[in-house]
Amino acid sequence: MRLGTPLSSSAVRVMLLGSGELGKEVVIALQRLGVETIAVDRYPHAPAHQLAHRHHVIDMTDPSALRELIERERPHFVVPEIEAIATELLLEIEREGVAEVIPTARAANLTMNREGIRRLAAEELGLPTSPYRFASSLEELQEAAEVVGFPCVIKPVMSSSGKGQSVAKNPDDLAKSWSYAQSGGRVDRGRVIVEGFIDFDYEITQLTVRARGADGGIETHFCEPIGHLQVQGDYVESWQPQPMSQAALLRAREIAKAVTDNLGGRGLYGVELFVKGDQVWFSEVSPRPHDTGLVTLASQRLSEFELHARAILGLPVDAGLRNTAASAVIYGQLEAKAIAFEGIAQAMAIPMSDLRLFGKPESFARRRMGVAVAAGESIDQARERARHAASLVRPVSGEA
Ligand SMILES: Nc1ncnc2c1ncn2[C@@H]1O[C@H](COP(=O)(O)OP(=O)(O)OP(=O)(O)O)[C@@H](O)[C@H]1O
Ligand SMILES: [Mg+2]
Repeated sequence: MRLGTPLSSSAVRVMLLGSGELGKEVVIALQRLGVETIAVDRYPHAPAHQLAHRHHVIDMTDPSALRELIERERPHFVVPEIEAIATELLLEIEREGVAEVIPTARAANLTMNREGIRRLAAEELGLPTSPYRFASSLEELQEAAEVVGFPCVIKPVMSSSGKGQSVAKNPDDLAKSWSYAQSGGRVDRGRVIVEGFIDFDYEITQLTVRARGADGGIETHFCEPIGHLQVQGDYVESWQPQPMSQAALLRAREIAKAVTDNLGGRGLYGVELFVKGDQVWFSEVSPRPHDTGLVTLASQRLSEFELHARAILGLPVDAGLRNTAASAVIYGQLEAKAIAFEGIAQAMAIPMSDLRLFGKPESFARRRMGVAVAAGESIDQARERARHAASLVRPVSGEA
């Protein structure tokens, strides 16, 4: 692997499809290695747009627009950062050898739809998951829920960050869950997965990196497990390492290995798992940095973004933990454009803490606008610091 000079004929070019806060950190990691970066999103001034060598605003679900851009920019690597992409086009691009898709076009294609990845994990790989059924109408949902049992979780097959997701406690809740799912799905309106509710003790993200080793072969590296707290299907806090029994940790890694071996390629994956005692269930997987992995900015020698960048470029990685740390999300809290933040100095005065403000052009009440991270002697201390720092940051109207 050779690295070159950006904006020259020797440049290594990476195109990010999706330019949010996770993509922004990937761009920073790549640029530290002199990689030429191209950031793409569906709206202007997205976080990674503000840093990349070039930026584009297109509808990434439109295959012809996406092909036109890839052929014009000629990136060596195409790196999906979000799920809502014309992944069929990525399969073509990869087949034609136009660019390498990270980790693979198949991984991006299977994971954008809950049905693809769930069937692979449960039916092909035989991994433990919640009981599930799929449904395309309220009647099918009612039948499916009877089989799966109550309480059950209803999710649009194409959605993320908890959108359109609800828990039905009994058959009377299903009509409401059905119409709620219709409002939250991305495309393929109408299809939902119904999952049996898993009464887990805790849930983790097992960051798993497939990177080239010294002998040129692909090696799998595991980060320490990340514990996290979800509210309405959206992550609000994460910490690393999450204490686990030896048996549960081994099982988690066995599951993560099976899924990532199958999806293949090079890059970092976030494998989401539920844990109860020594029992572990596969939930889903992101073939890219995971939001709960923002904690690695404070906990690992190489953050998940640096690990991804290295893996993309075919370089060796070190997935080791440096110290215990936590992250806490800063929400927009108000609906406004060009907001400002107060309380930054107070937040940064919290020991061992740091902030990331993503620079998103528009704020919504529940939009993730920043994150506080903090190291600590213990998980409790790190969480307390991160939460405290996040709570001191006050989004305000940007008008003078
Ligand atoms: N079957 C289940 N049993 C218990 N809890 C569940 C189940 N499915 C989902 N959850 C809870 O809801 C959260 C979000 O679910 P899931 O990860 O499937 O949705 P998502 O929209 O893809 O979220 P994200 O994009 O933030 O990962 C999970 O992290 C977990 O806390
Ligand atoms: Mg999830």
